[in-house]
Amino acid sequence: MKVLVADPLAPEGMESLKAKTEVDVKLGLKPDELKAIIGNYDAIIVRSETQVTADVIKCGTKLQIIARAGVGLDNVDINAATQQGIMVVNAPTGNTVAAAEHTMALMLAMARNIQQANSTLKAGKWNRKEYTGVELRNKTLGIIGLGNVGSGVAARAKGFEMRLIGYDPFASQEYAQSLGIALLPLEQLYKESDFITLHLPLTPQTRGMIGAKEFAIMKKGVRLVNCARGGLIDDEALIKAIEEGKVAGAAIDVFAVEPCTDGILFKNDKVIVTPHLGASTREAQTNVCIDVVDQIIDVLNGKPARFAVNVPQIPAELLEILKPYMDVANVVGKMAGQLMAGQLKGLKDSAI
Ligand code: MLT
Repeated sequence: MKVLVADPLAPEGMESLKAKTEVDVKLGLKPDELKAIIGNYDAIIVRSETQVTADVIKCGTKLQIIARAGVGLDNVDINAATQQGIMVVNAPTGNTVAAAEHTMALMLAMARNIQQANSTLKAGKWNRKEYTGVELRNKTLGIIGLGNVGSGVAARAKGFEMRLIGYDPFASQEYAQSLGIALLPLEQLYKESDFITLHLPLTPQTRGMIGAKEFAIMKKGVRLVNCARGGLIDDEALIKAIEEGKVAGAAIDVFAVEPCTDGILFKNDKVIVTPHLGASTREAQTNVCIDVVDQIIDVLNGKPARFAVNVPQIPAELLEILKPYMDVANVVGKMAGQLMAGQLKGLKDSAI
């Protein structure tokens, strides 16, 4: 079995992969280079840098599994993989603490002007007055997206005595309440929050979801954190809202195109930037590496994967038979989503 590691991974997980499979580590491949070699491999592991597009997948004639060492799957064309009977797995739990802690770090850094004070003091200015901050205590934190990371942020923010409100179209009132979060419509969350933090994927529906219209209804002096995905916030609208005094600060860890080292966000002193460090702790990288390596070894040995995000691996001859049913199931699922009123609480098997 041959495995291609296309993005940097923690050495701890790599050892067991090397003991059980033939591993090639090729980092920073250009799309054409990846297309040229992917046909030699049974599995590929990526983080967020390598784009596993439909074109790449088409060339992966031997591929059985695509593994994403992390949560977000916007760099993997899941539909193309599914159509080709390739399993896609991720590591949805291993780096959530890291991302939640980074969110808290950015929120505190913004509240206390840590970044700006650090730069000016090192430049020789003892500027205590200018950098009086605000406390998190008694402030309202709006959490958009109550998955693993959003829930982790809630647990930590509670320790800072913040009032928690949240929005998540898939979360139930009961779940939100168990986290101490009042579930509100998005517009209400914008109106009431002193801090807003985003924890949701980038999809056609969420791209640019915070723009001029949303900033207009937010509380004056709001501070925003984005440790989720670049592209959720309209950068130009954000800078305008900062210049107009509506937004007091923003902390941005993720960018529409990465790597990113320049642009309007970098020129504004009220914006703190970090280079997609949410999941970058030693612990998280070890966790996600072990999670995907274990799944690859299981799948290549014919066992099920813990975190498969698409259909299980299907042999080509069976895929031929199942494909029309998969298409119908896809359409029925989409239709059910549109017909459904309220939030999904569960699914029942109503066998005929
Ligand atoms: C993730 O989706 O898990 C994070 O963005 C971290 C990463 O890309 O490595």
